Amino acid sequence: MKIKDYTRKIQATRESIQHAVKLLKAGKLVAIPTETVYGLAADANNPKAIAKIFKAKGRPSSHPLIVHISSDKELKNWAIDIPKVAYKLTKKFWPGPLTLILKKAPHVASIITGGQNTVAIRCPNHPLTQTLLKAFKSGLVAPSANRFGHVSPTTAEHVKSDLGKKVDYILNGGPCKIGIESTILDLTVDPPNILRPGMISAKALSQVLKKRISFYDSKTRAPGSLPKHYSPKTPAILVKSKEIISSINQAKRKKIVVLARKEMPKLIRESFKKMQWFVLPKTPNDYAQTLYEKLREADRFKYDLIMIEDVPNKPEWVAIKDRLNRATKK
Ligand code: TXA
Ligand code: MG
Repeated sequence: MKIKDYTRKIQATRESIQHAVKLLKAGKLVAIPTETVYGLAADANNPKAIAKIFKAKGRPSSHPLIVHISSDKELKNWAIDIPKVAYKLTKKFWPGPLTLILKKAPHVASIITGGQNTVAIRCPNHPLTQTLLKAFKSGLVAPSANRFGHVSPTTAEHVKSDLGKKVDYILNGGPCKIGIESTILDLTVDPPNILRPGMISAKALSQVLKKRISFYDSKTRAPGSLPKHYSPKTPAILVKSKEIISSINQAKRKKIVVLARKEMPKLIRESFKKMQWFVLPKTPNDYAQTLYEKLREADRFKYDLIMIEDVPNKPEWVAIKDRLNRATKK
């Protein structure tokens, strides 16, 4: 997960980083690239600036935000009673797509935590945002930079099309490498509990912790992780691999965009002229990286239906399946 040398890229954008720092210090909103998705950032010590995030996204104020920091040395600035296992995890996975839920330090504003006594903290693995955080010398709160409920943005263009003038500046760091949101692990409960699956798997976490971890313990589910989320505007359904062809035939009069992991069968190509068929990658990492981009592309056709081929029932697909379930939930 560590990125060793990114000096060249940083120098190319030194001015834009300085500009972003200036805006953030002045209480403005800046979209930042991370390895997972783009975030809509504000100064974590400025509740007035943070309030603008909720307004820009149309996000309910009870949904807590993640504090982004540049290294685990800063954990103690935001959390208290940090268990030793937290550092075992940060040593292995930070910077990277893992968010830890810890007991909050007294000064952490309740607008960040949704009034709870815990705080979510993450150290993003993107060279620009790492440099930004170091220059900013404090934490940044950042939810995904999309309108509430919509698909998260994985490019600067997505942020622009979702938020337009509601964001004061977009730091363009290219397409996100992971493509779906971080794994959220609650360390305030025993056993630790995954609140949101991500590309760091339950298995990888329990190997480091050397203990079992639980998944979606209903009592402590992340506020704000609604069953329907991450959705395109076009109705979307998930269809078993074997049933794709019959489902297309059944929906004959509809204009459909299919997102599949296989090529379009010849027979289908000949009989359905008004259909779009996107082939998504076969490996989970590549699939995750492109999924949101493809959902947005599919949406742009403004067809009647997006039909998504279901993914394998295997641990390495769990996070993707979670997002597909939410995208297709009625
Ligand atoms: O990959 C990511 O995590 C991205 C990038 C931008 O860092 N961020 C992101 O933020 O996905 P957002 O706001 O879209 O999702 C944050 C999730 C929400 O479901 C929220 O409920 C949960 O984190 N969360 C935040 N603080 C929490 C807390 N104290 N306890 C439980 N869940 C919390
Ligand atoms: Mg989000």
